[in-house]
Amino acid sequence: MLSLTNKRILLGITGGIAAYKCAELTRLFVKAGALVRVAMTKASTEFITPLTMQALSGNRVSIELLDSEAEGAMGHIELAKWADLVLIAPATADFIARTTLGKADDLLSTLILATSAPVAIAPAMNQAMWGNISTQTNLELLKQKSFYLFGPAEGQQACGDVGLGRMLEPEELARRSAELFKNGELAGLTFIITGGPTREKIDPVRFITNHSSGKMAQALGTEAANAGAKVTLISGPVNLSYPDTINIIEVESADDMLEAVMSCVKKSDVFIGVAAVADYRPAEPASEKIKKDGNTLNLKLVKNPDIISKVSKLKDKPFVVGFAAETESIVENGKKKLEDKNLDLLFANNATETFDSDYISTRVISPLLKEEILSGNKNTVARKMLNLISAQIKTRIRK
Ligand code: PMT
Repeated sequence: MLSLTNKRILLGITGGIAAYKCAELTRLFVKAGALVRVAMTKASTEFITPLTMQALSGNRVSIELLDSEAEGAMGHIELAKWADLVLIAPATADFIARTTLGKADDLLSTLILATSAPVAIAPAMNQAMWGNISTQTNLELLKQKSFYLFGPAEGQQACGDVGLGRMLEPEELARRSAELFKNGELAGLTFIITGGPTREKIDPVRFITNHSSGKMAQALGTEAANAGAKVTLISGPVNLSYPDTINIIEVESADDMLEAVMSCVKKSDVFIGVAAVADYRPAEPASEKIKKDGNTLNLKLVKNPDIISKVSKLKDKPFVVGFAAETESIVENGKKKLEDKNLDLLFANNATETFDSDYISTRVISPLLKEEILSGNKNTVARKMLNLISAQIKTRIRK
């Protein structure tokens, strides 16, 4: 059965007769577990109503670039960042030409420019328009820009012609969309990922913690499992759900997290420390609730174990990936952590933007890779991170 569980698909509809098939396509996406948002060009509303698409997707349809009401719900940039996949179906010859030029003169073309998610195009047009050198040249350029091309199919056309140019059937478009998420790239590898915050007990009712939501670790765990890896996610207290394909170990404190990590890390190929582990904990947690008698309260804190450093000191260590959330000198501090903790790779991000957000913009810090910025929703960025990790471990010989 087709599975697109929790995949965020932005369906862009342009003005062609095949637009009517988008009703069935949306139904198939939703049935497969995808979250669907629809953006339509004005011309496409002549072929299928926004109301139909709203009812089937369960979300308000976006049409205008400058629509204060829509921006209030989900702005166009936010929509572009939200998507895990943008599918333009049907894609007219005109829309393909405008996309090739990088135009941003309506909502859909702007979304394509702004997204960092993969974009797939399902052309639908008359066979002569399809065969025209301009259309073919445009498509060549789009392929070079890493756009995916779904179709078209051959057959009887609405205008009476016969030939190439029919939009692929909804079942085929849904299947190809699902294929994009399945790569099996990490099959046979075992990943241990830490995530979320830790809680360090002050007394039976109070603790020290931080704002980590666990979303970045959830995205990495989910995408690694989708790519075929065996994943154990060791998480501090968070409020998230996970696919059944991930083994979850729930912990509270840094000490608990260390114990859980050490119980399974030796058999792993990759360790990713996403957790925002509390650096210090109260030296002596009170066994009874501390009374608020005085105007001040002194807490003596002691350093927590550095989990990732312990992993990278193991004799037969896995490929070790760290994270750093910084408020200043992000790259310099990231490089220092990479060295101090003997990491193979580190992602350094801005702490004021990343905690509890659905999005991340992070810098790749590595002794071997070029420094680059990865941005987008956490699932999209997780896939890019995993691609980097996968490429690195393929060239690495374990002792
Ligand atoms: O959970 P989210 O809301 O999605 O937010 C994601 C995130 C901001 C928590 C994540 O992207 C991130 O940046 N995590 C690292 C936070 C941090 O600043 O860590 P650090 O600089 O204290 O530690 C650096 C590395 O050492 C990290 O890989 C950390 O997991 C690890 N570490 C740190 C301390 C410690 N005692 N043990 C560790 O293993």
